[in-house]
Order: sequence, then C-alpha cells, then structure tokens
Amino acid sequence: MEDMTKSNNFLHNLIKTFNKFGPNREGQNEEDLERIAAQEQKFFTFDTLVSATKNFHPTHKLGEGGFGPVYKGNLDDGREIAVKKLSQSSSQGRKEFLNEAKLLARVQHRNVVNLLGYCAHGIEKLLVYEYVFNESLDKILFKSDRRAELDWKRRFDIINGIARGLLYLHEDSHNCIVHRDIKASNILLDDKWVPKIADFGMARLFPEDQTHVNTRVAGTNGYMAPEYVMHGQLSVKADVFSFGVLVLELISGQRNSTFNHSTDTQNLLDWAYKLFKKGRSLEIMDSTLASSADTEQVAMCIHIGLLCTQGDPKLRLEMRRVVVMLSKKPANLLEPTRPGAPGSRYRRSHRPATFSSTAGSSGASDSGTFGSSISTTTRSSASTSAQTGSGFDPHGKRPMQI
Ligand SMILES: Nc1ncnc2c1ncn2[C@@H]1O[C@H](COP(=O)(O)OP(=O)(O)OP(=O)(O)O)[C@@H](O)[C@H]1O
Ligand SMILES: [Mg+2]
Repeated sequence: MEDMTKSNNFLHNLIKTFNKFGPNREGQNEEDLERIAAQEQKFFTFDTLVSATKNFHPTHKLGEGGFGPVYKGNLDDGREIAVKKLSQSSSQGRKEFLNEAKLLARVQHRNVVNLLGYCAHGIEKLLVYEYVFNESLDKILFKSDRRAELDWKRRFDIINGIARGLLYLHEDSHNCIVHRDIKASNILLDDKWVPKIADFGMARLFPEDQTHVNTRVAGTNGYMAPEYVMHGQLSVKADVFSFGVLVLELISGQRNSTFNHSTDTQNLLDWAYKLFKKGRSLEIMDSTLASSADTEQVAMCIHIGLLCTQGDPKLRLEMRRVVVMLSKKPANLLEPTRPGAPGSRYRRSHRPATFSSTAGSSGASDSGTFGSSISTTTRSSASTSAQTGSGFDPHGKRPMQI
C-alpha cells in the first residue's frame, strides 16, 4: 500500500516535470528525472551534500567517532541534516552498501534516528540523517555545566524512550537488529528531549569482520557485555547490558569507562550493586537530581539497571520486560545477581545453554584486556562486529588487528 502511494507520487512528479519543461528541453528533463528518481530512492547526490555542508567545512563538523566524521548540513528545502562520511576502510562494494543503506532507511521509530538517505560517490560513502537538535546525550550528561538541564523527569523519559527504541530494533523492525554499540554518544536528544538511538545497523555497513573466522569484536569500553568481549557472542542481551550501563550512568551522572570512585569498587556497576545490597542504592544518584527526583522511581531504575547488567546474559531482562516494568508503579522486582564486569570476564556458577562460553576469572577493570577473538558468533541479521581500522581506536573502541 505504501509502495503504491510512493509510485503514484513518483508518476505524479514525472508528469509534473514533463509538463513544466516541455519537449524542447530534453537535457534538462533528464537531469530533473534523475533528481526526482534519486529523491524517491533516498539517494543523495554528492554535490547536494557538498553544498549542504559547505564542502565538509571544519566549522560544520559535529564530531568524529569510529566510523568517520559527522557534519551538519542544510538542504535547499530547509531541512537540517547530519552527514556521516564513512571511513574508507570498509571493503563493501557500492551495490552492497546501497542495498544495506536502503534497508536501514526503512527502519523508523520515534526513538530511532531517521536515516534520510545515503550517497555513494567514487570511494566516498555517506549516510544522511535528520539533524537532532540537542545532539548527543554525552555532550550534556557528562558536562558539569550542562548536566542540570537533565532533571529527573527528563532522564526518566530518556530511559523509557531508549528502552522503546531498543525493543523496536530487537523485535519489531524488519529484521532483528542488535545495535552492538549502545552508549551515551549514540543517544541523540531532540528539541523536546525525546531520545533517538543513532548508529543502528553499522555492522551491516562494515561486513568484512563478519567473514573473518578469527576476528575481534568491536564496541565501546565500559559498555560491552562480558560474553561479547571474551567470546564474541553477540545477541540482544549484549545490547541489554549496554542499556543497563547507560541507565546507571543517567542516574549517577558518571561515565562508567572513567569511573574512579574508590579502590574496592571496580566500576560503576560494582559500586551500584554493592550499595544496592546494603539497601543504600540511592547514594549513587547524581546530586543535581536531588530536587527533582522521584526516589521510588529512581530506585526502580537502579534496580532495572542492575537486572540488565548481570554477568549471566540469560538472567538479564529482555527489553520487552523493561518497557513493561517502566510503565508500571514500582513493584516487587527480582533480586539482581552480580553485575558482569564490562570489558572483562565474569564468573558464573553454571554454564548457560545458549551461550557456549568458557567461564573465566572475574576482576579486570573496564579498561579491559582486549586480546580475545571471535571464534563463534551468535548473529542476527545485523549483529557481529564492525570496525574501521587497525591499531588503537581513540574513540574507546577495542584495538583491532585483523
Ligand atoms: N543526527 C545527528 N544529529 C545531531 N548530532 C549528531 C547526529 N549524528 C551524530 N551527531 C553528533 O556527532 C558526534 C559524532 O558522532 P559519531 O557517531 O561519529 O561518534 P560517536 O557516537 O562518538 O562514536 P561511534 O562511531 O562509536 O558512534 C556525536 O557525538 C553527536 O554529538
Ligand atoms: Mg555515534
């Protein structure tokens, strides 16, 4: 039905173009037809993106992550865009890239960033997203002069929105999409503080790692589930773990990867868990939340965060369950078991059926040891690793040497 409407629009546009220019301007007609066809297919010409970003001018640069720089741009029709220029280390061919990008552009949800289109021009590959007004959560939550803009209601709504967006990616999008890199910089906030998950499906665009038998996992320090780090086993439960870390970061205002509280706590999760066991979990709360916090709700979210970051992936909540819990009044929740150490091994008492990993010693910090490699992967359509180069990645990704 949607496709029919699309093709009707397409025909309508074609007819309009012919009427407008008449039969004498064939060259012009062709150009216009190409332009309209491009619009319908969400294909942006390189020239459009060059002019939108003032030739990728440094003043337009919004940031740069593991996949390449992102620029702010303005389209002639008034739309604001964010253009991600993918680093050229992806060996994916033009056709495969366009196919994958086309699929990703169909992913649509209130809590997922809208991929407006894409562009392949020579060796350049670019993704065009809607520009999201307040940019990424890390730029606000981890800046002491901006953190107070996020009162408890906003943070609770952000937690809720991320949970819904993730549930959609895991269960309701066309394919099950394991995000693989849920973290504060991949959560964008719009002008009404609605959270939108960015960078979903990046593994589909960097598929070379999927074909290597012995390849390393990619993700970001402080957010990666232990079984993913140690054994490359990626499932929706790895995203649940990262979501749990993010929830605890939102409540504490502290970044897990640079957490430095005391010598007897290894990371934010460990700190939260120990306080929880003593019935003092609210002590992890960011002091700027003191006046706005609904303490029952905060306590429930800490509890959910701990249930999501448990060492054993089987025990972690599913996103569907998280969404239901968040919509209810705080009630009796299960007791969480020990959190997994992000970026390191975890100890467990029995071997879970769906994860064939070797139990290891616990205790490494989240700066982690990054020598492990993937021998098996539990992949869904968009899972496994993605990486852009070898050597140490300054953006907190694992060092890669393939
Ligand atoms: N659609 C967008 N709207 C507004 N700002 C954006 C958008 N996409 C990205 N940004 C900004 O650009 C910055 C860089 O994004 P990028 O995804 O390259 O880096 P990252 O998220 O830190 O790392 P990673 O490559 O691991 O995702 C982000 O931190 C964000 O602030
Ligand atoms: Mg990102």
